Amino acid sequence: MKQLVIAIDGYSSCGKSTTAKAVAHLLHYAYVDTGAMYRGVTLHLLEHGIAFDDLPAVEQVLKDLTISFRRHPQTGRNELFLDGANREDDIRQMRISNSVSEVSVIPQVRHALVAQQQRMGRKRGVVMDGRDIGTTVFPDAEVKVFMTADMELRARRRQMELADKDEHVPLADIIDNLRKRDHIDSTRAESPLRRATDAVLLDTTHITISEQVDFVIDQVFSALFAA
Ligand code: DC
Repeated sequence: MKQLVIAIDGYSSCGKSTTAKAVAHLLHYAYVDTGAMYRGVTLHLLEHGIAFDDLPAVEQVLKDLTISFRRHPQTGRNELFLDGANREDDIRQMRISNSVSEVSVIPQVRHALVAQQQRMGRKRGVVMDGRDIGTTVFPDAEVKVFMTADMELRARRRQMELADKDEHVPLADIIDNLRKRDHIDSTRAESPLRRATDAVLLDTTHITISEQVDFVIDQVFSALFAA
């Protein structure tokens, strides 16, 4: 069977990664969470006290830092490793969410991570979620889905994810963070968040996760069996 690239882009907390992971699992494809890579660089810069505008130091980090994913043998969860250390939980903290958009506007960061993502998907057979997969990383992806959802619902989902990790954040703070990130992500010069002209729109406000997964799988069948 032909191996495809499935690009799932859209706003934060619309259910992209849950959908992408389930689709990858069903198809036995690799799954790449590109947001985790931007979060990883942000965590590293913060921990090492490197200012985001210190470009020579940022470029050195991009050369030296090894970013990889490993599948947890028991949970099957794809986890982010920085220089061989598991940082999956640390990159999900609110302090990282508050700074990651500032790091992901830096062109040098985008060039390095986009190049790594293209290498990760070069054999195809991959589901990749992010903001610019269908527009910049894999403009030739066979399946492109752009996900959106109502702001309050997105914030409530994010609040529950954080509460699961014992981080209790008021809804208003989460809405504020999501609005700021949406704005920065969609107005940056380098590969901004936007729907590729050939991406299908999926509004997840009123649908279940299994309906989201079915929707993407339908797109996969169309791509595989279209004449
Ligand atoms: O999907 P996420 O919320 O974990 O992504 C974190 C941030 O990374 C998001 O605010 C924007 C940025 N990002 C990006 O600029 N390009 C991507 N392909 C993925 C994420």
